[in-house]
Formats: sequence, structure tokens, C-alpha cells
Amino acid sequence: MTDQSVSVTVLHPLLLLLISSSLPLLVFSDAQICTPHDQRLLQTINKSFDTQWFDYRCDPTTKRVTQLSISQATISGGIPPAIGKLSSLESLNLFVVNNLTGPIPSFIGKLRNLKQFTIYSTNISGPIPAFLSRLTKLEGLHLSNNQLSGPLPAFLSDLPKLIWINLVWEIQ
Ligand SMILES: *[C@@H]1O[C@H](CO)[C@@H](O)[C@H](O)[C@H]1NC(C)=O
Ligand SMILES: *[C@@H]1O[C@H](CO)[C@@H](O)[C@H](O)[C@H]1NC(C)=O
Ligand SMILES: *[C@@H]1O[C@H](CO)[C@@H](O)[C@H](O)[C@H]1NC(C)=O
Repeated sequence: MTDQSVSVTVLHPLLLLLISSSLPLLVFSDAQICTPHDQRLLQTINKSFDTQWFDYRCDPTTKRVTQLSISQATISGGIPPAIGKLSSLESLNLFVVNNLTGPIPSFIGKLRNLKQFTIYSTNISGPIPAFLSRLTKLEGLHLSNNQLSGPLPAFLSDLPKLIWINLVWEIQ
């Protein structure tokens, strides 16, 4: 009961803001609330891609980037290392990225908070790397329509939270 009335009091100025702002403006300013450190990383990552769709979310409390989605993009080479420094990422989605090549880099294994990881429709190649087994919070893994190869790794069945896997896969 007490908790409920507290949250109503806290929400009140936000409701006023909602009424007085246009929705796109509100969404935009929400997305900008990140730590300067993460903001710089986002700029570095954004510069690496020629992209139509660069979407991210920051946690309202920690101000760290928790979600990053890049699509309809072109990049020459591999996944930018700056992504590996967004240590609070929970959702990373790279899909329909032209000329994205090379293996899934090892810094992805440092993103221990990842719950969802998508690389869809790129030219990423090589095996599904063993370091993905460190992503113990992973709930969803989507690695279809790339140039990945090799056997399905056994560790996938040991990931405790994994709910879904989407792989269109050529078994060698
Ligand atoms: C990403 O870069 C493009 C091109 O420079 C720019 O128009 C866009 O606002 C940037 N997006 C973000 C979220 O920084
Ligand atoms: C992947 O590479 C092939 C051959 O170089 C090319 O035809 C195709 O467009 C590339 N796909 C992507 C998503 O970059
Ligand atoms: C992708 O790479 C190929 C070969 O390196 C190049 O010819 C092509 O222009 C690149 N495509 C884009 C959209 O950058």
C-alpha cells in the first residue's frame, strides 16, 4: 500500500512530461541518458557502420547501455571491439549487415550480462565459439543466415537459461 502511493507520487511529474512532450522527443531523450563512457563507445560504434538503424537503450538507474540493435547497415570487416566494452549489454542484435566478416570475436565472451544475442544475415564466419559458454545468462541465441560452419557445440545444452536457439545451419 505504502509502496504503491510512493510510486504514484514519483510517476506524477513523468505523466506531466508525457502530456507536455511529443512522444518521439520523449523516446529520444530517454535514449540519451547514458554514462559519458558508454555514450563515447556508442559514437565509436555508430561511426564504424554505415547504418539506417542504430537503436539503443540505457538503464534508467545505472545509465549503462543495456540494448543495442544495428540493422540495414554496412561495415567493412569485423564486429567493432568497442561493443565488447559495453559490459552491461543484455541484448545485442546485428542483423542484415552487409560486408560484416570474420569470426565471432572473443570479446563477445566478456559480455556476461547478455540475455539475447543475434547475428542474422551477415557474412560472419567460422564456428560457434566455445567462449559463448561463458554467457550463462543467455536466454536467446539467433545465428541464422550467416557463413558460420562446423558442428553444433555441446555447451549450448548446458547454458542454464537458454530458452530458444534459432540456427539455420550447415552441418559439415
Ligand atoms: C549515428 O550516426 C549517424 C550518421 O552520422 C547519425 O545521423 C545518427 O544520429 C547517429 N546515431 C546515434 C544514435 O548516435
Ligand atoms: C556475403 O558475401 C557474398 C559473397 O561475397 C555476397 O554476395 C553477399 O552479398 C554477402 N552478404 C552480406 C550480408 O554481406
Ligand atoms: C562489400 O565488399 C565488396 C568486396 O570487398 C565490395 O566490392 C563492396 O563494394 C562492398 N559493399 C558495400 C555495400 O560496401
